[in-house]
Amino acid sequence: MDNSVKTASSNGLAFNPDVAALPPYNAGMNVAIARSISGRNDIARLASNENPDGCSPAVLAALASPDLEPWRYADPACTTLRGALGLKLGVDADRIVIGNGSEEMIAAISRAILVAGASVLTVVPSFGLHEIEPLAQGATVAKVAMTEDLGFDLTALEQVISQGPRVVFLSSPWNPVGPALDRPALERLIAAVRPGTLLVLDEAYFEFADASCPNGLEVLRQSNIPHIVLRTFSKAYGLAGLRVGYAICSDADLARVVTAAKTPFNVNAAAQAAAIAALGDEAWMQASVARLRGERERVAASLDALGFKVASSQTNFLFFDCRGDSATLAAALLQEGIIVKAWRERGYERYLRATIGTAEDNDRLLRALEKAARR
Ligand SMILES: Cc1ncc(COP(=O)(O)O)c(C=O)c1O
Repeated sequence: MDNSVKTASSNGLAFNPDVAALPPYNAGMNVAIARSISGRNDIARLASNENPDGCSPAVLAALASPDLEPWRYADPACTTLRGALGLKLGVDADRIVIGNGSEEMIAAISRAILVAGASVLTVVPSFGLHEIEPLAQGATVAKVAMTEDLGFDLTALEQVISQGPRVVFLSSPWNPVGPALDRPALERLIAAVRPGTLLVLDEAYFEFADASCPNGLEVLRQSNIPHIVLRTFSKAYGLAGLRVGYAICSDADLARVVTAAKTPFNVNAAAQAAAIAALGDEAWMQASVARLRGERERVAASLDALGFKVASSQTNFLFFDCRGDSATLAAALLQEGIIVKAWRERGYERYLRATIGTAEDNDRLLRALEKAARR
C-alpha cells in the first residue's frame, strides 16, 4: 500500500496540507461487513461504546410525535435543550453550546482557539479526535503516555501543562483506557494551568463513573481558569445515532466563539426532540447505567481470571493487554461474530478495547477469548 501523503488530486488540485496529512479516525467496523466476514447475523457490537439497552421509550415517543416537523429548520440556538441542560446543571444557558455529537464541539473548539503552530497537549492512548482536530488547524500535538499501571501520568502532565499549551484535551473517564482523574489529581492539573491555556475536560463517560469520581464541572467551577466540559447523549442516554453532545464553557464569551466556529443548523430537529425527552427520563438512564456498571465489574473480573491485564474502568468499556497483536485477536473474535476495537496507536498495539454489552454478548466475548487463549 502507498502510505505517502497525497497533497494534491491527480488533476493538480492542491489540498489543505494539514488536512490531507491527517491520520484516519479508527471507527468501529460496519455491521454489514462483520456479517459478511463472520457469516453470522447475530453480531455482538462491542467496538463503539454504544448503549446496548437502547434508549428511553420517551425518546421513541418524541420521535414519533406529530410535534416533530422535519420540513422545518430546527432551532439553530437549541433554546429549549440548552434551557433544560442549564437548569439540570445549574449553569447559565448562554454558556452552553450544543453540537452534532460532542465530536463536533472538539472540532469547533479547535477551530475557535487554535492557529497554525499552536501547541496542544493530550494523552496516549488517546481519543483520536483530540489529536485529529487540532492537527487539522495546523497545531502541533504533544501526547503524554499512560503509566505502566495503565493510569494517568500526573507528573508528566503537570510538567507539560505548566509549559503553557494553547489547549489541553483530556478525557476523564479516559477513552480508551478507562480510569478517571480523582479530585486531588484534577486539582493538581488545574493548578498547573498558566494564563492563556484552555483546559477541555471531555466527560463523555461521566454518567458511568462511581460516586467517588469528581464532577469535573463542579471542580472546574471553583477554579478561575478558562475551561470547557464536554458531555454527550451518545453513551449513557443511548442516542449515538442521533448525534447530540454539548460544551459547557467557563464564560459566555468562550461559548460565543465556539458557537461561531460551528455550522448554524448543526443539531437537527429529531436530535433536539430526542435529547429533551431523554433528559425528562433520567430514571431510564440511571437504571441502564447501574446494570452496565455491574456488568463491567463482572466482565473485568472474568478477564482478570483469564490472565489479561485490565485497566480500571469508570466507563462502559474495558481496555486490556491481550499479550500479542490485538488486531490478530480482534480478527479471531470477528470470526465468532464479535466486533471489538484493536488499538492501533504506535506502542499500544497489544491493547484491545471492548464495550460492555448485554449480559449475553459479554458472555460470548468471554467464551471467545477463552477459546482464543487455548489455541
Ligand atoms: C472521549 C470521547 N469524546 C467524545 C466522543 C464523541 O461522542 P459523540 O460525538 O457521539 O458525542 C467520544 C465517542 O466515543 C468519546 O469517547
